[in-house]
Amino acid sequence: MNENNFYITTPIYYVNDIPHIGHAYTTILADVLAQYHRLLGEKTFFLTGTDEHGQKVQRAAQQAGCTPLEHCDKFVVRFQDLWKRLGITNDDFIRTTQERHKTIVQKILQDFYDRDLIYSSTYKGWYCVPDERYFTEKDLVDGCCPDCHRPVEQLEEKSYFFKMGQYQDWLIDYIEQHPNFIMPENRRQETLGFLRSEKLGDLCISRPKARLSWGIELPFDTDYVTYVWFDALVNYISAVGYLADDAKFETWWPASYHLIGKDILRTHSVFWPTMLHAMGLPMPKTIFAHGWWLVGNTKMSKSLHNVVNPMDMIDKYGVDPFRYFLMAAMTLGQDASFTEKLFVERYNAELANDLGNLSSRVISMIKRNADGKIPAYSEPGDDEKELVDSTMTAVKEMAAAVQNMQLDRGLAIINNAVREGNRYFDKMKPWALAKAGDTAALGKVLRHTAECLRIVSGLLYPVMPSKMAELRKTLGLKEEDIVPSIDKLSIWKGLEDGAAVLDFTPLFPRVEPIKEEGDAADKDVKKDAAKPVNVITIDEVGKVQLKTAVVVSAEKVKDADKLLLLKIQIGDEQRQIVSGIAEYYKPEDLVGKTIIVIANLKPAILRGIESNGMLLAAKKGKTLRLVTTDGEIASGASVG
Ligand code: MSP
Repeated sequence: MNENNFYITTPIYYVNDIPHIGHAYTTILADVLAQYHRLLGEKTFFLTGTDEHGQKVQRAAQQAGCTPLEHCDKFVVRFQDLWKRLGITNDDFIRTTQERHKTIVQKILQDFYDRDLIYSSTYKGWYCVPDERYFTEKDLVDGCCPDCHRPVEQLEEKSYFFKMGQYQDWLIDYIEQHPNFIMPENRRQETLGFLRSEKLGDLCISRPKARLSWGIELPFDTDYVTYVWFDALVNYISAVGYLADDAKFETWWPASYHLIGKDILRTHSVFWPTMLHAMGLPMPKTIFAHGWWLVGNTKMSKSLHNVVNPMDMIDKYGVDPFRYFLMAAMTLGQDASFTEKLFVERYNAELANDLGNLSSRVISMIKRNADGKIPAYSEPGDDEKELVDSTMTAVKEMAAAVQNMQLDRGLAIINNAVREGNRYFDKMKPWALAKAGDTAALGKVLRHTAECLRIVSGLLYPVMPSKMAELRKTLGLKEEDIVPSIDKLSIWKGLEDGAAVLDFTPLFPRVEPIKEEGDAADKDVKKDAAKPVNVITIDEVGKVQLKTAVVVSAEKVKDADKLLLLKIQIGDEQRQIVSGIAEYYKPEDLVGKTIIVIANLKPAILRGIESNGMLLAAKKGKTLRLVTTDGEIASGASVG
């Protein structure tokens, strides 16, 4: 693949899921990254799609009295419609029921079989029917599926296995040698931790048709279909022409990014690389696992009735503010919180007050006081220095933020330029210049703030394409300049002298803030916080050694409802901590988190288990949240 080509993928979504904010997030993130890379002048391919085989689809179709394919055809539209609504610019949409995909899966299977990479054997163990996954006795949690916590069935049946286990050492070595292969770092450590501590088994890749017929038939045994994950992962190469269109495949493979959620890390960081290695293909450059959207502090789930439907938010506030919020409010790699209140607060502050206000001030003054035309250019002077600097910094930093997967940071720096625009406007008082009839000075202020808006609207275009296109048109940019490019954003003088400014409707009208129970209580806390008690000195603070640590594993402590046993990595050192957080966190939700621990606490024995350190958490009422870092940082870093 040409180094300048950019190929990005989302997971393919289970077709019978109702699209929620988690699906919308990954797809918007992929879209924003694809649009930034286009803006940076790279040739880009953006793939999304749906995962359409498996038990759940088969069962739903049976209940609906239709064929599984009819069911998929009906439900895939929900995703396709949502992507249209959200302005997603994917280059392809793959469905695993398409012939172009199925034939490639079968070719790979036949090739593996012919090369003795697949063998048949008797599988004995536990099976989770809804998840279509096999487990060993020790995987089970309280006798149930460790993922969905539903009962499992005992099975003994002939199955086919892919010889995945033989690649364990190779995979460890590959991950060690390629620090960007699995990102962020805590997910890389999580994968390495698992690979180093457990023996990697072979992967069962078949399901007997007697139990599940809705899948891709094994080419070498028609009594079986392919395990859904083996089928689904292949989408990333079947869509770009593997074994079908060599030129296309050469153009795009290896992928630049597979974006995934943290819950599907292992399938992507273990199954997929070993499959690719067996095919003799190069690895994707980066598998990037983002965190979860929580609703407030709670996991989103159907049973809690708190699932956020993106359509509701778009209907109420518009597509672009929704896209903006999702990109600005999540630090990539960490969990983030979604509530309508947080959404409205950010919307009013950053979109209505900052950007919306600057746009309407500049454009309405050009309309009223400059004949509706972009004033003639004059070189920036001392007064303009900060405005030019902060805007050009935003150009540089946004490009860096895209490369480093720190979109929230990039957006904060763009906002900084917008705020500088408002400060410059206030400082120069163009309304007073207009009143005094100083046309030259007035023209200068309006022209430079308009240039700031041109650049900022270009930088925000990948995040808010329709609102920013509107703003760019209003600024009198020509049709061919509406979609921005980095070369034009990197120069300060980009508008045309005398270009007509169009009529303007406010981009982001202010919305009514949302009040929630607890606001009053928060104020009381603030009042109390102003009067500290138990004052300590800086030396006393210095005695406590706080360090970042990554949770490598977590499990419940037997016969202790409140306790979890965590294995943590602090730099090169592994330790264990017993912590009373079992009521607030499920063990599997902790793995991979970067937490803060008191590293020099005297070890203690709790319920017969040594606890070496203490983790930090914030608690109020019935809510407890772990203290984590605001962005990625290696374990073992000092906190203070
Ligand atoms: N079909 C598989 C993926 C196969 S890829 C070869 C699948 N599908 S899914 O529809 O269940 O999930 C798709 C993605 O949505 C996952 O990356 C998952 O992490 C993400 N999300 C589900 N809930 C989420 C949040 N609450 N927040 C953010 N993303 C989450 O898994």
